This record gives sequence, structure tokens and C-alpha cells, in this order.
Amino acid sequence: MAQLWGGRFTKETDQLVYNFNASISFDQKFYKEDIEGSIAHVVMLEKQGVLTEAEKDAIVKGLTSIREDVENGKLEITSEYEDIHSFVEANLIDRIGDAGKKLHTGRSRNDQVALDMKLYVRNQIVEVDGLLKELLLTLNTIMKENLHTYMPGFTHLQKAQPITLAHHMGAYFEMFKRDRSRMKDIYNRMNFSPLGSGALAGTTYPLDRFYSATLLGFEGPTNNSMDSVSDRDYIIELLSAFSTIMMHLSRFSEEVIIWNSNEYGFVEIDDAYSTGSSIMPQKKNPDIAELVRGKTGRVYGALVSILTTMKGIPLAYNKDMQEDKELTFDAIDTVKGCIALFNGMMSTMKFKKEKMESSAMMGFTNATDAADYLVKKGVPFRDAHGIIGRLVLYCIEKNTSIDALSIAELKEISSVFEEDVYQEISLETCVEKRLTHGAPSALIMRRQVEENAKYLNEGDWK
Ligand code: ARG
Repeated sequence: MAQLWGGRFTKETDQLVYNFNASISFDQKFYKEDIEGSIAHVVMLEKQGVLTEAEKDAIVKGLTSIREDVENGKLEITSEYEDIHSFVEANLIDRIGDAGKKLHTGRSRNDQVALDMKLYVRNQIVEVDGLLKELLLTLNTIMKENLHTYMPGFTHLQKAQPITLAHHMGAYFEMFKRDRSRMKDIYNRMNFSPLGSGALAGTTYPLDRFYSATLLGFEGPTNNSMDSVSDRDYIIELLSAFSTIMMHLSRFSEEVIIWNSNEYGFVEIDDAYSTGSSIMPQKKNPDIAELVRGKTGRVYGALVSILTTMKGIPLAYNKDMQEDKELTFDAIDTVKGCIALFNGMMSTMKFKKEKMESSAMMGFTNATDAADYLVKKGVPFRDAHGIIGRLVLYCIEKNTSIDALSIAELKEISSVFEEDVYQEISLETCVEKRLTHGAPSALIMRRQVEENAKYLNEGDWK
């Protein structure tokens, strides 16, 4: 047991208590950020005259050597230390002696851990944003190649009106684009440094919090030292945004699973992204999509967990807050893995265009357009709706589609029908005449693909 706080105690910590309390098994994840934060702290202390230049140099050198040795495997982070902060400080003292004991001047583990977590999460937000961008690039490529790939659009999972694959992918493009903007918002809102807030009430040392914030790439220091050490809002926001990403991925996964089913056969998932069955030789299963759908629950769980942890905590720091880490780390790894794998699956997936198109031809996806045809010929919409309804019933009995009926059959139901009806309710017309902004026609979608490309070419926000 290597602890930072033995002085006031007359007994050793019970081993079970020690284990229960320790966080090294998971907070070692941000050893680099802990060292980065400590370096900024001592550089600031020296500038403020709290440390000498020689002390600062020794500490920075010692910290750098610890980071290198952890990276190259010479120094192992073990459970002998309570947390990553104790590990770094104890090793520093081992390496440079008394100067190392000055590292913690004007600092508490409360502002230290708040800083480390922010530094870690901040980098991860940028990584997630980058992965989302990759996925958007894939989606826009599929869109560009499928402006004329007709398929049924559904409501209630019943065929509704024809759309294109580009249009369907475009819907997800918008969702993931919003997810990216959420990453940016969260980053900008959380990018203030808690360093120098001490345990809760600042310190009497003449710290320059603005300076250390700048050294660490923050917008500035946080404003209230009690809030600084006990704010975990940004983690809640992040897990909420992650939950939304997973919800989007899960909906998309569900569609891929349906499209990949024998009954639909709209897509074929690449061999590299599917798995077989141990018993049924014919099987090729959409496991990646199923796992992404399944892992959504873990991320929702992390959000509910931190919300619940935080709801009863009086100001300022309480140990409950140590619970902000494990599930957040798990959620970060889960979200990153899911976006990357989903992207790989989408970019290698084959779309069976004929199957999609023939499915769009069936199921009366042109019924609305047939009613609109009658309206254009002067029939009030409600009457037109009734006429086409009867027509659909007739087709169902005869197992055929509206456009396959002869003009004589059509006229029997309404004398308003004329030869031009076939052109007016063709699959192509149904899609290409939908010219409102956001509609599926190739004319509109081509513009959208160009807009998307422009957005993706703009410099990244980070
Ligand atoms: N491991 C602790 C955490 O993650 C570090 C802060 C400890 N502070 C304290 N007052 N015990 O929250």
C-alpha cells in the first residue's frame, strides 16, 4: 500500500477497505494526462516564484522519464499504489528525491483528478468526432453512387412511398452530422481548466490559473473552485450524446439486419463483416450489426449510472465521483469501436439494386401518386383516396399492381383515368417529381450530396 496521507492515522488501512477505495486499476488509463497536468502545474509554480528553476527542471525531467518508462514497458503501473496520482508522485520522489515532494504544492487530488479526466475526455471527443466524419464520408459515397437506386420507403414497416437508397442514407447522414455538432458543443462548453482550484476553496499560493489553463490548451480557467472540483456535467452531456449516437447506430443496424434477411435480400454484408453458424452451414449472420444494436444498452447504462451517482452529492468533492470513470471509459471504447466497425461494414456492403427496385414496384408504393393523378384531373382528394383504395383492393384480389391494370379495368373504377396515368404513376415519376427541398428526387439529392461534400471538406473544428 503506497498512500499519500498516512500522517494523521495510527492504524494501517484494512486491506479490503484499501481495495474498495483504490482506483489505480482504471485511472491508470490517464497516466499521460496526469503527467501532462503536473508539468503544467510546476511550470506555472516556477513562473510564480513558488518553485525554483532547478526544482522545476528536476520535476519536469523526472515526470518525463516516468512517462517514457511507462510507455516503453520499463515501469509497470501496479496495484501497490492507491491511484495514478500516488503512483506518479511516489515514483517521482524515488527518482529525484526532495524536489519531487514539492510537486503537490497548491494542488489537491480533487482538482488534479478533475483535470486529468477532462484532458482525457477532451481527446476522446476529438477521436469520436473523427470516426463520425469517416462514417459520413462513407455514407456520402454511397449516396453519390445511388441517386437512382429506387427502393421502398416505409412507415410502420409497411411499404409507403418509393424513395432512393441515396435518400435513405441521407437520413442517417443528417443524424450523424448532428452527432458531430454535439461533440463540438460539448468540447467547447467543457474546455475550461479546473487546475488550481485546490481541494475546494482555491489556495493561498499565488497561482496563475490563467497561465496553466493556456499551457494545457484550455479556453481559460473555470470560475468557481467548488464547482471546478465537483462538476461532472460534461460527462453526463457526453454520455447523453453517446447514447444518441448509439441509438442512431442501433436503428441503422436494425435496418441492415432486416435488409440482409432472406426475405428482403436488399443487401449482402461482406464476408469479412459477417459470421457463420457452428451447425447450419448455409448461415451468414449480421453479427456486427446485432452487436452494435446490443451494445447500445451498455452506453445507456453508463448515462443512467452517472446521473444517479451525481444526484445526491452535496458540494464539493465526494468519493462517489470516483464512479465517473469506469463506465465512461467503457462507453468511450464501445462507441469508438461501434462507429469504426459499422463504417467498415457499410463501406464493404453490397446493395442489390434490382431487388430493391422490384420491391419498390410492388406493395402499392405509387398509390398516393395515383390519387394525386385523379386530383390533377379535378377529382377532390378525399374522393380520389376512396377510388384508389378500391383499386388497391381490386389489385390485391387479382394479385397485381395498379400500373399493371389495363386502361379498361382502370376506367371501370373511374372514368377519369386516361393513358397518361401509366407515365404519371411510374416508379421513376413517383421519385423524380418529388422536388421539394429534402425530397428523394435525384435532382434534389445531387445537390444535397454536393452540400455534404462541401461540409466534409471544410476544415475540422479541432
Ligand atoms: N481517485 C479519486 C477519484 O477518482 C481521486 C480523488 C481523490 N480525492 C479525495 N479527496 N479522496 O475521484
